[in-house]
Amino acid sequence: MKAYLDEIALRIKDMEPVEAISFLAEQFAGQITFSTSFGWEDQVVTDMIFANDLPVKVFTLETGRLFPETYYVWNRTLENYQQPIHAYYPDAAALEEMVTKKGPSSFYESVENRKECCHIRKIVPLKRALRGNKCWVTGIRSEQSLNRTDMSNLEWDEQNQLIKFHPIFDWSLAEVKAYIKKNNIVYNTLHDKGFPSIGCAPCTRAVQDGEDFRAGRWWWEDQSKKECGLHATK
Ligand code: ADX
Ligand code: SF4
Repeated sequence: MKAYLDEIALRIKDMEPVEAISFLAEQFAGQITFSTSFGWEDQVVTDMIFANDLPVKVFTLETGRLFPETYYVWNRTLENYQQPIHAYYPDAAALEEMVTKKGPSSFYESVENRKECCHIRKIVPLKRALRGNKCWVTGIRSEQSLNRTDMSNLEWDEQNQLIKFHPIFDWSLAEVKAYIKKNNIVYNTLHDKGFPSIGCAPCTRAVQDGEDFRAGRWWWEDQSKKECGLHATK
């Protein structure tokens, strides 16, 4: 697999993001999917896929706890492109059991509870969304967190047994904003209110000037425990 990955990495090395996604869509025809959380990085990648009619299935993990602003962007994106964004919901029985037992805000009480909630609302649905795919495209950028600077734009995801590709991995925030502006793309207005990274509403808050991009995510927890498991690093 390593040799195959290196070969693909070499092929896409000098390609623009759209060209690279298109190349991978050919290599992994019908087995490539993009996950969107409707943040501005994801809106850029969504535009690349939809505006160029690239055969990549777009999906979102609908945790049930997203911001109203996020739902608004979702609707507007559907209107603008008229292409499907597949919604993956948590398993109803698992969610009902957790909320019945622990209430609707158990994630504030302990790291275990928070991980349990992320597991039910995100990880299990993610596994379902990725099933049958060989390539998973995301909107991750390297400067989003320290963990992410060690990653590369193309990697093997051991946990999910597929290739992961981050087409705008090396882009700066200024490049993301410029693309959004130039192409007149709808974006989440929370980004203008101090939210560089937007997840579930109860678990995301604005950051202060100079704080890390992800400081507003699960802000009550230790730095070290803060990835939710969608993008587990080794
Ligand atoms: S997270 O792991 O902390 O939640 P982050 O918000 O940085 O992830 O987003 C990184 C990438 O993960 C996004 O570009 C997107 O591809 C994917 N992602 C995050 N949240 C979701 C979601 N709710 N639905 C689909 N994809 C998501
Ligand atoms: Fe639950 Fe918060 Fe994780 Fe969303 S981010 S799944 S509300 S713990």
